This record gives sequence, C-alpha cells and structure tokens, in this order.
Amino acid sequence: MATAASSIALRITELRSQIQHHEHQYYVLDAPVISDAQYDTLLRELQSLEQSHPEFQSPDSPTQRVGGKPREGFVKLNHSAPMLSLDNALNEAELRDFDRRIRDLLGDEPYRYVAELKLDGLSMAVHYEAGRMARAITRGDGIVGEEVTENARTIRSLPLRVSESTAFETRGETIISRHAFERLNDQREQDGLSLYANPRNSAAGSLRVLDPGITAARQLEYMTYFYLVDGKPARDSHWDSLNHLVDLGFKVNPLRRLCANVEELIEFCNEFDQQRDSLPYEIDGVVAKIDSIPQQQKLGYTSKAPRWAIAYKYAARDAETVVEDILVQVGRTGALTPVAVLKDVKVGGVTVSRATLHNEDEIARLGLQIGDTVKVERSGDVIPKVVSVVAKASNGKPFYMPVDCPVCGSKLVKLEGEVAVRCLNVNCAARLQQSIEHFASRSVMDIDGMGEALVTQLVAQKLVQNVADLYDLKQEQLEALERMGRKSAEKIIQNIDGSRKRPLARLISGLGISFVGQRTAQILADTFGDLDKIATLPQEQLQAAEEVGPKVAAAIRLYFSDDKNLALLERLRAAGLTFTQEIKGKSVGPLAGFTFVLTGTFPTLKREEAKAMLEAAGAKVSGSVSKKTSALVAGEDAGSKLDKAKELGIEVIDEAEMLNRLGNP
Ligand code: IVH
Repeated sequence: MATAASSIALRITELRSQIQHHEHQYYVLDAPVISDAQYDTLLRELQSLEQSHPEFQSPDSPTQRVGGKPREGFVKLNHSAPMLSLDNALNEAELRDFDRRIRDLLGDEPYRYVAELKLDGLSMAVHYEAGRMARAITRGDGIVGEEVTENARTIRSLPLRVSESTAFETRGETIISRHAFERLNDQREQDGLSLYANPRNSAAGSLRVLDPGITAARQLEYMTYFYLVDGKPARDSHWDSLNHLVDLGFKVNPLRRLCANVEELIEFCNEFDQQRDSLPYEIDGVVAKIDSIPQQQKLGYTSKAPRWAIAYKYAARDAETVVEDILVQVGRTGALTPVAVLKDVKVGGVTVSRATLHNEDEIARLGLQIGDTVKVERSGDVIPKVVSVVAKASNGKPFYMPVDCPVCGSKLVKLEGEVAVRCLNVNCAARLQQSIEHFASRSVMDIDGMGEALVTQLVAQKLVQNVADLYDLKQEQLEALERMGRKSAEKIIQNIDGSRKRPLARLISGLGISFVGQRTAQILADTFGDLDKIATLPQEQLQAAEEVGPKVAAAIRLYFSDDKNLALLERLRAAGLTFTQEIKGKSVGPLAGFTFVLTGTFPTLKREEAKAMLEAAGAKVSGSVSKKTSALVAGEDAGSKLDKAKELGIEVIDEAEMLNRLGNP
C-alpha cells in the first residue's frame, strides 16, 4: 500500500516532469500549451511540497533553475550575473504580504517602490563597450543565453552608440506592438504561413532567427529596465538608473512611477489594469522593485528570485473551453472565415462564445476537430483566437469547408496563392451587409448610428445595395424603419452627409479592395494623391508605393477592372466624396531616401521617363553630383558629371541596373 510519503514523492516527480515539459514548450519551442497562470500553479504546488518535504529536494528540480535550455544554432554566452525571474503576486493580498515581508526585513528603514509595467515579451541583455553596442544575449536559461547581437542591431529602439565609454550592460524586454503583430500575421496569412498565437511568441520567433533580415522586418522594440556594470547595479537608486538610461538614449517605459508605499503601488496596478487594452503593446502585470540599491542588497535573493521585487500578475487573458461547432462567416471581401462556436467561457472578465480560426490551414495546423477542448486567448479589443488544442475529444468531428457559399449558394473558389476560400458573388447578401458595415465603421467613414441593426434593415428592404446608395437615402425612408424615430433618422442623415468630407485614405479603405486595409490605403493616398490615378495606374507603378507588392497591386487592378466598381466610383464622385489629397512631402517607395543624378543618353528611356520612374519609387533626382548622391545613372556621352562622380567615389550605374533597382529588369 502506498504510504503518505511515497504518494508525495510521486506527486513531486509528476509535477517536475510536467513543469519540465511546459518549460520546454515555452522556452525552447516558443509554443506554450498552458497559460502562465496554470504554469505558476504547478510550480507553486511543487515549491510548497519541496519546502515541507526537504528530503525530496533535488538539484535538478525546476524550482532550482531559472528557465529553459537555449536552442542549438546560436553561440551561447554566459550572463554577467544570472538573469533571474520574479516571484508573483496574484492579487492585492499577496502584494500586501510581499510588502509586509519587506517591512519586516528592513526594520524601521523607510523605503520606496519603483512600479513598472510588466511587458509581455522576451528579456535580453545588451552590452556596451567603448560607447558601442558590443553584444546582445537572450535570457536563455538565465545563466547562459544565445548571442543575437546582429538581430538586436535591427531593433530601432536600441542605440548603436552611446555617449558613455565605460563598459555597461542594460537588461530589458524585447516586444512587438499589437499593431506590428497584427500586420505580421496578416502578411503570414497572405503568404499561407502558420500564424503566431500572440505578440510574445512572434517577438520570440523574430529575435531568435538566424537571419537578422527577418528580425529587421518584424519591427521589434526594446524597452530597458536595468543598468548594470560588471553585473551589478551601478547607482544607488533604481529610479536614477532608469533616468540615466533615458539620458543615454534608451527607451524606458515612460509609464513608471516612484511609489512611497504599498497603497500607491496598488493604485498604480489598478490604474493600468483599466488601461491595459488601450496600450499599444501587451502587458501581463506590474513589476515592483525596491528603489534603493543598498536596500536591495540587504534584502538579497532566494534560490530563484530577488526578495526586493515582485511581479503583480493581472488576470490571465486565456482560458480553456470546448469547441461546440465551427461555422463559416462571409466577410466583406467575400473571404470565408471559419469561426469556432465555444461553450461560454470567461476570459479576463469577458464572456467569450466565438473565436476566429482564420482559415482552413489554421484549423489543420491546430489539429482541431469539433468537440475538442482548446485554449482561447484575448488580447486588446480584437476577436478572441483559438491558440491550441489542449485535449482531443474521443468522438471529435472533422470540419470541412463548404463548397457553396452558405449565404448565397454560389460556388466558392480558392484563388491561386491564397489561403482563403472566397465567394466571388459581389451581390452576395453577406458581403453586402459586411461591406456596408465596414464602410460606415468608425475607423473608415465614421457614420455614427449606421451599425449592424440598421444595415440589416437597409439591406433587407433593398434600400441599400452598395455603399453609394447610402448617399441617396432620404430621412422619410429611415423614419419608416423599425426602432427609428424622426430625431434619430435626422441625425443619421446628417452623419451620412458629414462623411462626404472624410479624407481620401478612408474612402480607399472603405471600398473593400482585397488586402487594402487602413495602412495600405493611407500609403496609396499619400503616394498617389488621387483615386482616379490609383484606379488607372498599371500594376508595376502601383508597386512603386511602399509596402505594395505584386499581390496587393494585382488586387487593386482587379477591383478597378470591374465595370460595377467603376460605376460605383462615379456615383461616389457625384455624391461629393473626397477623391484627391496632397501628395505627402515625405517620399515613400522602395528607393525612398536615395538621390540619383542622370547624365548622358540612355539606350531605351528618355531622361524624363527615367526621372519619373525614379521619383515614383520615392527617390530624389538631382541635377548635380555631390557627396549626397547615392548613384549616378550614366548613359552614352556622359561628361563632367561622370568625372565628378568618379572623383567623389560615387557609384556609377547604367540604365539596366537602374531598372533592376526599380524592380523592372
Ligand atoms: S525585472 C530580477 N522588470 O518579467 C528581475 N522584468 O518574471 C527580473 N518583465 O523575466 C526582471 N517587464 O522577462 C522586470 N519592467 C520589468 C519587466 C520584466 C517584463 C519580464 C522579464 C522577466 C519576467 C519576470
């Protein structure tokens, strides 16, 4: 029969192997399968069992180390001093307990806390020597990390040079903003790649790649929170160190506060819990550190974490639930999105019953079947996502994409190179409804009051069959609708009227061209300044705009090659919408920032044509060669400009090479 002691030993072994598994998933594979909160619960249970039964303690227990193993493929380097993690406080009471321990240990001494946001990213140490960035090392297992200097150099918020020549080290968090994360996943979806589950994983995946070019494209950010010399804090106050880092040119989160006591600290925690969704990056709590370094030294460390700091964790934004069904939704561009119907579950205080599954490939990647238990995650205001399958159902049902549109019955198609399946019927009621809601939404034409309920009625009564119809609506027509009084009808007509003045970029994004979201619409408006130009330019010229690749350019062409859309454009013009804007002075395009000089006679192009092409790609074309010239494009009979370029060591290229750089070989 099992004794109490042997069943405890058994539980300890079980917990260790579970924790080890999850650490491997999290730190090595960047693919966690349980939430941080669940992981913390396991670790705590183990810690408490080991504490009450020290006879079972072992040097290889996960409680005795601080992280996971570094991956193969990078040079491994020792940290100047261990990069520890923090103990957690999961609620206010635990934070007060922490404060009480501090007070007990410091006796009568007054003390202060520095409160910082706990960024949900990846910690990294960056060393500076002789005023230059010398090495960047990921946390790894806290003792040994991976050298990622070349990748770190691509992070713009990290200075390459600083005004301090003595060697020092900074430690901080590498993150990716929500915006950059959404863009990255949109791009991956377009390219048919698997999607990152959350910003943290994508930051980790972007930092730990062997090709720094990939890191550069990902727009990582780095916010620092430690300033060390020889692995030790070099100032007497943590707050002062942060300000010193700011002076040196580092990004230190401005949302930090010196707190005189635990009450002020709790206030800070609550304040940012409220604001969590409106921050441009993800946070999962607050880190509180004792400000005085001598006091930090006095408090010291446990085997795993400092006694002078704590992580106050916010409620987890993930939860587990069952997928009861999978539906498909027809979007405004006709793309079908599978949506998981979930057993209601609270995720960070909000009840969630639907989660997006993006596309068929994503379902396959997750290995998801109807009936499975999944982890759902919510970040900011965006639609919740299914992140992983936690338990397979014994009688799970596979999901198949329908062959016909569930709304209009048209045959669905999968366009070449696309992951999404589409309904191509522009008159499909689902598309119409969604496209009008999109057009009227706050970030597009901002027609207040034109929400789902009203659009449903307008579409059902055939009062609106495309977005231009909105501008022909009469107050009496609205008044005749359900739940619509005179006052509100009048207001809505006014709001529709007001939307005629929205800037060009909003109109472009309102058209619902595939792959043209707000950002691309803004770039198109700034680059070309004219909707008619965008509607008629050939694909190659559209590609001269920054971030507009062949796929986006082709989608724009496809949209404007449809007579129905051209007719729509004419009606929108007649309704008085904004079709033009000034071209932004700041040039955009693949050659932005380059200055070319043209000389001599070219084999195929006229000088003016070459100039126009370079300018369309964002380059400047200047009349004379100077040190600022990027390259001289020289044709036959080039004269003094060629001599000058040679004298200054400026690169000289021919027409073919110029076309090559323009992407037109
Ligand atoms: S201090 C010994 N400050 O949270 C001190 N950490 O569990 C350890 N983090 O590994 C770090 N924001 O990746 C600190 N302002 C902040 C932080 C922060 C995020 C992360 C960091 C660390 C983990 C602590």
